[in-house]
Amino acid sequence: MALLSLVLSPDPRLKQKSQPVEHIDEAFRRFLDDMLETMYASNGLGLAAVQVGVLKRALVLDIEQDERGVPVNPMKLINPRIVRFSEEKCDYKEGCLSFPGQFEDVTRPAEIEVEYTDENGELRTLKADGLLATCIQHEIDHLDGVTFVDHISRLKRDMILRKMKKEQKLAEKP
Ligand code: NI
Repeated sequence: MALLSLVLSPDPRLKQKSQPVEHIDEAFRRFLDDMLETMYASNGLGLAAVQVGVLKRALVLDIEQDERGVPVNPMKLINPRIVRFSEEKCDYKEGCLSFPGQFEDVTRPAEIEVEYTDENGELRTLKADGLLATCIQHEIDHLDGVTFVDHISRLKRDMILRKMKKEQKLAEKP
């Protein structure tokens, strides 16, 4: 397995729409494993392919890793689609590996039902609530070029985007 490099805001790729995955082969399965390894290495709960620069509709999640980052319940969702949202909403303080150090409360539907293809090409349905429902919605947003800052007030969003631009400038300095 290999660590992949993360795409950070304000990289314009984070605003692009990802394309459906058409072939699930050994190389793609290896890529999903690399995504998981990258996610664990950065202590993330979820990662979308666009966040490692691949504009394909795939994401990985694990909301149950232990404090040493040991995989507990890794999930791989290919071409995921939310087919049902609850009326009820809930708030979570969200962060994102593409916005290191930034966290804000985001309100989203509390329960969802999602259809996806697994790494063996089987179509599956999953019901999720709580943190898992939030993470899945956050990651599926990435596949449509939407990030968590698009769900918060303009004032807070502009503040985060300004910080990210400043970090980028600092990183570019020799
Ligand atoms: Ni994210």
